[in-house]
Amino acid sequence: MHWRVLVLPGDGIGPEVTREAVRVLEHVAAKWGHSIELREGLLGGAAIRATGNPFPAETRKLALESDATLLGAVGLPEFDDLPPSERPEKGLLGLRKALDVYANLRPVYCYESLIESSPLKNDIVRGTDILIVRELTGGLYFGQPRGVEGAAGAETALNSMVYSRGEIERVCRMAFELARNRRGKLTSVDKANVLENSQLWRRVVTQLAAEYPDIELEHMLVDNCAMQLLLRPTAFDVVVTENLFGDILSDEGSVLAGSIGMLPSASIGSQLPNGAWRGLYEPVHGSAPDIAGQGKANPLAAIGSAAAMLEYSFGLTEEAAAINDAVSAVLDSGGVTADLKPAGPPASTEEVGRAVCAAIN
Ligand code: IPM
Ligand code: MN
Repeated sequence: MHWRVLVLPGDGIGPEVTREAVRVLEHVAAKWGHSIELREGLLGGAAIRATGNPFPAETRKLALESDATLLGAVGLPEFDDLPPSERPEKGLLGLRKALDVYANLRPVYCYESLIESSPLKNDIVRGTDILIVRELTGGLYFGQPRGVEGAAGAETALNSMVYSRGEIERVCRMAFELARNRRGKLTSVDKANVLENSQLWRRVVTQLAAEYPDIELEHMLVDNCAMQLLLRPTAFDVVVTENLFGDILSDEGSVLAGSIGMLPSASIGSQLPNGAWRGLYEPVHGSAPDIAGQGKANPLAAIGSAAAMLEYSFGLTEEAAAINDAVSAVLDSGGVTADLKPAGPPASTEEVGRAVCAAIN
């Protein structure tokens, strides 16, 4: 099989974690006899520095020509004072929209060997296995109108939470289908006690549920969900929610997994004629400029995202499972980065990447 993969290292720790993910991809390709065609592009702050644009036309073209895109992270403090439309993050949002990857799958899994890495009590986090399905191309991130109006000193700022029935239906359908292949439970998270937008969301999900009588559906308000995730995480299976709620809840979820450096993600939307998904694969974590370039970053979220790429975009479940098993073995070995609070001296980003390759069999 031939893989056309676009790599967008991005900013901060992005380049060092994607380097390890690519190392693992190349190792797997060689071992299983696949050919891999890697291209590299600019996104985010790196793209602003080189071209003045966080999402250059060339990057859009490369992404649309590739079967899958692997992304590091975007965002740099030097752009902190710019309006949203000129920031590195705008590049990522443009890429998600261009690829139409409306469903962002964020698994939150607590490995037994990382049970001490979470600040929460062992009995609470043990057995956590949640899949957050975050809507990715709508809601407050993209809604119009938006902007700032009025004279300095008397401004008004506006953002709009907009969802059409169709946008809600497609991501929730995906979540129901995913729940079918897991433990058959779906929690739909909204703020229907306050927002019309959430009331439509809840209505659409309830109507869809008639097509999935085998799935146990519950509705939960987002504030309560934020609390329940920490009180009884093992009660959740698949969680589906709108864009901003999903962004916030997934960072919270990382505390259950031990570190935000453990959370991979797969963003998918339309299926290609051969049944594969054109996907965007990125760690949930940000660019962490404070530790960039020091070999401290945990590459496992990026490596897990590469495994998800093999699974969703190339249908290679055996290869993907081999990577995930290798990650598990590395965690058991204790040779992990500082964020996971190892008992001994922490391993470097590169050491973890090489250890995962060595553990693949
Ligand atoms: C994420 C990130 C992004 C988001 C930022 C970098 C735009 O926080 O992927 O969770 O808010 O979606
Ligand atoms: Mn986020």
